Amino acid sequence: MASRRKVLKAGCRTAAYGMPLLFGLPAACRAVAGCETMSTAVDARPMKDQAEKRGLLFGTAADRDPLEYDPRYAQTLLAECAMVTPENSMKWERLRPTPDSFDFANADWMVDFAETNGLLIHGHTLVWHLQMPGWFDSHVDASNVEAVMSRHIGTVAGRYVGRLRSWDVVNEAINPDDGRGDALRLSPWLERLGPGYIDLAFHKAAETDPKAIRVYNDFGVEYEGRWYEDRRRSILDLLTGMVARGVPIDALGIQSHLSADLAPDFRRFGSFLSDVADLGLDLMITELDVRDHKLPADVIERDCRVAATYRAYLDVVLDQPRLRSITVWGLSDRYSWLVEFEPRDDGNPVRPLLFDHEMKRKPAWNAIANALGNQ
Ligand code: G3I
Repeated sequence: MASRRKVLKAGCRTAAYGMPLLFGLPAACRAVAGCETMSTAVDARPMKDQAEKRGLLFGTAADRDPLEYDPRYAQTLLAECAMVTPENSMKWERLRPTPDSFDFANADWMVDFAETNGLLIHGHTLVWHLQMPGWFDSHVDASNVEAVMSRHIGTVAGRYVGRLRSWDVVNEAINPDDGRGDALRLSPWLERLGPGYIDLAFHKAAETDPKAIRVYNDFGVEYEGRWYEDRRRSILDLLTGMVARGVPIDALGIQSHLSADLAPDFRRFGSFLSDVADLGLDLMITELDVRDHKLPADVIERDCRVAATYRAYLDVVLDQPRLRSITVWGLSDRYSWLVEFEPRDDGNPVRPLLFDHEMKRKPAWNAIANALGNQ
């Protein structure tokens, strides 16, 4: 019930900050560069309908607790979204209490919720280096790692065969900062199984659920600068090799956890997306949100600059013919992972998403809707 208290507390805390924001933006906001395009939405229909106009799926990440304990949040998600990504329910930490057991309670609840309400499901994630169970390091070594990975993928993807649209098969395998020539992250998987763990995961996923779209998911490819350029080149090299080896990969998932304090220059990102598509891969935006923790406190300015980043980013992404979906990493500021992971120094609630703490549409919602409508 701790989580239920957390949901209720979040509501109380934010009631003091929640701003009844109508579609119209105060004049102060329009002073922010590019903000005039966020004052209203040309088309006010739900976001899933806006996306469908472009042949795209619109979705969000979500966890069980807010959906179970906050009806207004659940209603908004069902009205606005065509797809859902279980934010934590399908990670090793949640699924694997012991080396020999699986706990599907939360993952099953999410899949049942989605199926009952006609939502598509994007599974997240079969192989990652974070949120691993405490027993993994001591229990898994080079002698059993392949069997452990294959059993996990076979059991988890096998449980939902035919019920998930897609899977993040491998998440965040690239990290040039770790210094390897192939830029692979020094993950528990690499250390025990070598670079081949990535191909193995995709082959096992294809064997288990042949119809599910198989995605390699990563972050840090959007902005200008050497760090981002190194990551773009490394990910493109990884994908080029996988395609050349005939690895059954269908799409690149681009997380896109953006920052409103960075210059919204996404030109090289657009070229990168074209290069990935030229490999014959589809593109999925998988975890979109816009941090505002380094912006001034003023809510109107923050909302505007966050919205302007969404707009500038989508104007690049929507040019890509092989774009298939846009998933935001949460719908409401009230439940964003950034509340815990990247809070503001001034203690004000962060405002990275499309809906505020009271589930009212924000300028970010207008910006995304207008970008989709090419308005
Ligand atoms: O649910 C428990 C709660 O019962 C307990 O009281 C509390 C104690 O701290 O922990 C809660 O679990 C937390 C969970 O989020 C749900 O809120 C975990 O500690 C916390 O680690 C977990 O954080 C998740 C984070 O990944 C972990 O790295 C975020 O929700 C999730 O949004 C975030 O998502 C990742 C993607 O999976 C991969 N891409 C990056 C993205 C952001 O980091």
